[in-house]
Amino acid sequence: MTPRVVNTTDAVRQAVSHARHGGMTIGLVPTMGALHAGHASLMQIARASCDFVVVSIFVNPTQFGPNEDFARYPRPLEKDSEVCAAECIDLIFTPEAAEIYPVDFRTFVEVPGLDSVLCGASRPGHFRGVATVVLKLFTIVQPDAAFFGQKDAQQVRIIQQMTTDLNVPVKIVVCPIIREADGLALSSRNQYLDADQRQNATVLYHSLQEAEQHVAAGERNATVLVEGMKARIVATPGAELDYAAVVDANGLQPVEILQGRVLIALAVRFGKARLIDNVLLENLCK
Ligand code: PAJ
Repeated sequence: MTPRVVNTTDAVRQAVSHARHGGMTIGLVPTMGALHAGHASLMQIARASCDFVVVSIFVNPTQFGPNEDFARYPRPLEKDSEVCAAECIDLIFTPEAAEIYPVDFRTFVEVPGLDSVLCGASRPGHFRGVATVVLKLFTIVQPDAAFFGQKDAQQVRIIQQMTTDLNVPVKIVVCPIIREADGLALSSRNQYLDADQRQNATVLYHSLQEAEQHVAAGERNATVLVEGMKARIVATPGAELDYAAVVDANGLQPVEILQGRVLIALAVRFGKARLIDNVLLENLCK
């Protein structure tokens, strides 16, 4: 069945409130649309644990920098509705920008320290926009649980911190990274890649795999891992390294020696596409 589509806060609140009065639990999957199998996997996980599932589709202007791809970000709403229908979604919330950011809007959420490293270093203001819109979606929809992909590891970490710090009563569910057969993490931005770039873009996954193999073989020196990944990326035609980092999974600060929970994260540009990927390693002993 085609999900109902609403675009106002009042309409989404009314639908959710009706479901809640019927004893249903509410799940929210926030997205910017251009939905792919990565988004669909979040919907499946939400569908399996919540009675009423809302998908928001909103290309959030405040998380794009002035020279980023806000204007050309894909907006295939009809196809997106089909993806949601296939996943038995109950409600699609597609607000206009003015619904989320009326003219007098002036309140923002910041998570200092976590929002200025990794992707935050080359995308100033990005996570301020993300945290703000996600908190707004939480207060509009008031879900019991919200579903996010590990693909955006820093985003997940920031949202977890924000919900803890601000006592937001939403359970954050982190879902695994979905990949193409050759390892490339699915992303709405993969469609910016030409054929050569698409082929070479697997370097993110292969570099992470190689690093993970080194760790499995006993390597604990972060510099060795970072240098290995960098060398592989700069040797790849068309690849422009943004960062390769080994950080503590909680504070997102660089580590020298791998121990405990560690995130290995990459951002690489191929032409117009900026791609990210990561691997989370847990329970590492020295
Ligand atoms: P968007 O890039 O559309 O992603 C929506 C959700 O899908 C995010 O939680 C993201 O981590 C997840 N996702 C994307 N690709 C994935 C993959 N290959 N495997 C698993 N999950 C994947 O992230 C955003 O939108 C926005 O920043 C948003 C949170 C909606 C706020 O505007």
